[in-house]
Amino acid sequence: MKALVYHGPHSRAWEEVPDATLHEPTDAVVRVDAVTICGTDLHILGGDVPEVTPGRILGHEAVGTVTSVGPSVQKVAVGDRVLVSCVSSCGSCRYCRDGSYGQCLGGGGWILGHLIDGTQAEYVRVPFADNSTYKVPDGVTDEQMIVLADILPTAYEVGVLNGAVSPADVVAIIGAGPIGLAAIMTARLFSPSHVVAIDLADSRLEAARKFGADTVVNSGRDDPAAVIAELTGGLGADVTMEAVGLPQTFEQAVRLVRPGGHVANIGVHGAPATLHLEDIWIKNLTITTGLVDTYSTPTLIGLVASRQLDTTPMVTHRFSLDEFETAYDIFANAAETGALKVLLTAPRQQ
Ligand SMILES: NC(=O)c1ccc[n+]([C@@H]2O[C@H](COP(=O)([O-])OP(=O)(O)OC[C@H]3O[C@@H](n4cnc5c(N)ncnc54)[C@H](O)[C@@H]3O)[C@@H](O)[C@H]2O)c1
Ligand SMILES: [Zn+2]
Ligand SMILES: [Zn+2]
Repeated sequence: MKALVYHGPHSRAWEEVPDATLHEPTDAVVRVDAVTICGTDLHILGGDVPEVTPGRILGHEAVGTVTSVGPSVQKVAVGDRVLVSCVSSCGSCRYCRDGSYGQCLGGGGWILGHLIDGTQAEYVRVPFADNSTYKVPDGVTDEQMIVLADILPTAYEVGVLNGAVSPADVVAIIGAGPIGLAAIMTARLFSPSHVVAIDLADSRLEAARKFGADTVVNSGRDDPAAVIAELTGGLGADVTMEAVGLPQTFEQAVRLVRPGGHVANIGVHGAPATLHLEDIWIKNLTITTGLVDTYSTPTLIGLVASRQLDTTPMVTHRFSLDEFETAYDIFANAAETGALKVLLTAPRQQ
């Protein structure tokens, strides 16, 4: 089979590799029908994730068709169309038993395209298949489904639910990449009075408007604090979310929130940020961090299937699997290409 293989920092190739096969009785092998690229894959290619070793097949998001299952797999059958989630789950460790699958101690968590071979391939081995895949409802396309593998549950759980977005809230979201945009979309489920999107790129702010932001602020030109003060009588936002992953944007999220408000950090950080306790000890803030658990995936699938959420505008570019190298180039140059999510699909099976 063919796969997108990581060969060390800044080196990748779509090349021939051994076929994916069952290793454990709880595994399934899935033919990849649709797959995408995550910002995290760019971090890996940049050499920021040293646990990913050369020879690893990248990718942790896919929709596909089950082609074989191990003898212990009970709920997934050959021929099923499934979502392969970015987080795998053993289902029985203490974290999995309380829905914190991202912290799985039994061999799950974020392993695909990280610690084991991933989804950017013609076929992928999915461990703990009963707990790590979700059936695609009839009438839902691969394209609608693919964003539920990672960005939608991340934005919803780590941003909107951790941030406790409530009716009439003023919500400020820093960073309008795919994660920030998904946070705008899912924050709207709670009827906020106002969503403010903050970014440095006008193209991303344009997208933010389409995804439901009421106000957009280019923080390279305008001061988000002034805009939020105007909206809130000087108090600050009820909820702020950090969807960039930089010290300055985390510190900004803390500055923009009102006393008693919530700061939800979503970004992956590689450098220390300063927590100004000397200013905020008195403000009764709740600050949350998190790796996505994907416990909300069934809820999000229900919202997509019932047309309460329209995920299709998230896919901006489409390719076939053998165009993986071009797709990476387009995705990596999002500022010029306007890419949000790129979709790669396999030729239709008869
Ligand atoms: N917590 C989790 O489980 C989890 C899961 C997936 C991704 N993430 C993280 O979420 C973050 C966002 O992901 P993404 O795919 O949307 O990334 P992205 O790089 O596509 O988007 C980031 C956005 O931030 C903007 N930006 C950069 N510097 C800024 C600044 N100083 N002020 C305002 N905006 C600025 C960029 O223009 C861009 O639009 C990343 O850090 C990613 O690693 C976290
Ligand atoms: Zn991801
Ligand atoms: Zn577990």
